[in-house]
Amino acid sequence: MRKKFICGNWKMYKTTASALEFAEDFKKIYKPKEGIEVAIGAPFTQLKALKEAFKGTEVAISSQNIHWEDEGAFTGEISAPMLKEIGVDYAIIGHSERRQYFGETDETVCKRALKALEYGILPIICVGEKLEERDAGTHFDLVRRQCEYFLDRMTKEQAACITIAYEPIWAIGTGRTASPEQAEEMCAFIRGMAREIHGHELADKLIIQYGGSVKPANAHELLTQPDIDGALVGGASLKPDDFLAIINY
Ligand code: PGA
Repeated sequence: MRKKFICGNWKMYKTTASALEFAEDFKKIYKPKEGIEVAIGAPFTQLKALKEAFKGTEVAISSQNIHWEDEGAFTGEISAPMLKEIGVDYAIIGHSERRQYFGETDETVCKRALKALEYGILPIICVGEKLEERDAGTHFDLVRRQCEYFLDRMTKEQAACITIAYEPIWAIGTGRTASPEQAEEMCAFIRGMAREIHGHELADKLIIQYGGSVKPANAHELLTQPDIDGALVGGASLKPDDFLAIINY
């Protein structure tokens, strides 16, 4: 049985003060459950404080980016050693907002993921199509290209440490969720691709999340699909009650 993995993505929301308020409120209501991993993807300035606030709980902390070099002249970027130093567990990589607004490509996504793995930070790699691509029926080709790029460049051992988050761009922040069938279809397709490249054992273990307007009201039907192993949750992860309701889907 694969574990479920629910990760919040706070994007560019909250200050450290409001992040700590969230942590205090969430700790009061959250009880760890066997087989369900929980993480929060927060802005860089909040990571250290959140790591401390969640010490001794089972809530993991994720960054929302990570650079592919150990150090260097890369103004505005953050390195794996910097994140490792404060104990960051995961890194969200290649979110569609990064691909769309900050020039992230399949190549930079892959380089970032490989560097994270080198430092024992677990990549959550985001893939997903635009509405035009779905309407044109090219969404499988696009997601295949995005996933193949990094799966081909990883060993089976490396691929065993990643999470893939399928997030159709037309469902992100729009309130328009993919139907459970649409989400399942693509997550199963991704698992099949991982099987072709790295074999059954890896594919059966691979954690594949769905993301895009996941909320308490639709979490159950999405998270009970056979190939959906969790969720990457934006808007609904900002409030402790909503986030918890998704975890308790
Ligand atoms: P949303 O965002 O849940 O607000 O749609 C998901 C994401 O961007 O990861």
